Amino acid sequence: MNESPFLRDFENNFDGIYFDNSATTQKLKSVVTAIVGYYSNGVAAYGRGEGPLNVRTRELFDNSKQTIADFFGVKRRQVIITKSATEASNLAFFNYRKILKEEDKVWISAYEHNSVYFPAKRLQQEIGVELERIAIAGDGRLNLEWVRQNISDPKLRLVCAGSVSNVLGIENDLDEFSRILSDENRKRDMDNHIYSHVDNVGNMLGERMNFSQYDFGSMMVASHKMYGPSVGCLLVAEELLDSGWFGPEIVGGGIAKWESFGFEDSIDFPLDDLITKDKEGQFMAGVPDTAGVIGMATACEYLRENEEEHYRYLDDLCEYLIDKLRGLDQIEILGGVERKRHNVVSFLTKDRDSARLEKIARILSENGVDTRWGRHCADVLYEFLDVEYALRLSLAAYNTRQEVDRVVEIIGAALA
Ligand SMILES: Cc1ncc(COP(=O)(O)O)c(C=O)c1O
Repeated sequence: MNESPFLRDFENNFDGIYFDNSATTQKLKSVVTAIVGYYSNGVAAYGRGEGPLNVRTRELFDNSKQTIADFFGVKRRQVIITKSATEASNLAFFNYRKILKEEDKVWISAYEHNSVYFPAKRLQQEIGVELERIAIAGDGRLNLEWVRQNISDPKLRLVCAGSVSNVLGIENDLDEFSRILSDENRKRDMDNHIYSHVDNVGNMLGERMNFSQYDFGSMMVASHKMYGPSVGCLLVAEELLDSGWFGPEIVGGGIAKWESFGFEDSIDFPLDDLITKDKEGQFMAGVPDTAGVIGMATACEYLRENEEEHYRYLDDLCEYLIDKLRGLDQIEILGGVERKRHNVVSFLTKDRDSARLEKIARILSENGVDTRWGRHCADVLYEFLDVEYALRLSLAAYNTRQEVDRVVEIIGAALA
């Protein structure tokens, strides 16, 4: 199969080759149609009024949020809409900060994107927690042997892990990671519970993640990496939502309690008395991006309907890309060539000459190819691998074998 069976689902009104899908993907026609449809037929500010357009907006928003919740196997209240996965991560850390103390330890994985690493770094800087890195094992995945040996550390209170590295494309064994965590937490009381935060952004075009199957506290996702608009979500475990300390970072209009304070002056009331107790409503300060949520739900529906075929197509295409790159003996693929991976492959030249790599990226660009050269917001990983820069090729379902042939041909000529 040379042509992509998914091409028809995208507009793609450009001549070039887009191999920067780990940064963001092109949008589905159905997503664009849904967003335009919402904006063209009368809008209102969610949750503010009772007129017909208010009702329409509320129904569309709530139904779309339900579709997103179903996609990730959670209840609607467990989905907190944010503008990006980065904002979702910051919300999670805003809350974990409340239960962490100076003497505590926080794990981040060597895979970590800066959207997790930097908020964790802030905990280190502002509270003084110790940050420790979970290393990568010989198979390119998180070193679970090390995790098993060290999880009983009494100081450990928060662990972070990514499902798929946005540089290596290699998937971690989160099933086993979650099991190890649950076994350890069963031995601990709530005062010593180990909380967990998962970055699923590297896996948005991979197998669907059913959050409820895991024992994780929170997970961040991004719609713009799965053919949708720029919306993110934080998925939160129900126990955490109901814990009493997990709450909104952003407060303001739209989350006030629906009750009158009589003639008392609310200026002296605690904030908790002024905002709604409803856990879903609490995270809705400010008018939400209804069009974005509708678009994300449309992308979820598409991926759900095409799940098997989509996943298989991308898997095959990525294998094809690796096979082709194997023929270029001057490059080294990060993570090795023998590993099964998602839609991402990163490489450097064997002489590790960054200027040469930058030149290849420039030549690709001059030939109409979008790729990404640099450190891919994954500084922890680059330091761990002792690599300065790499060139990343990341695929989506509208890409084709012919495009792979062309890109590898350009790289080959640039290396010569
Ligand atoms: C693995 C990973 N995590 C998190 C993010 C941040 O996502 P967003 O751009 O939606 O904030 C990215 C974006 O590149 C990513 O690749």
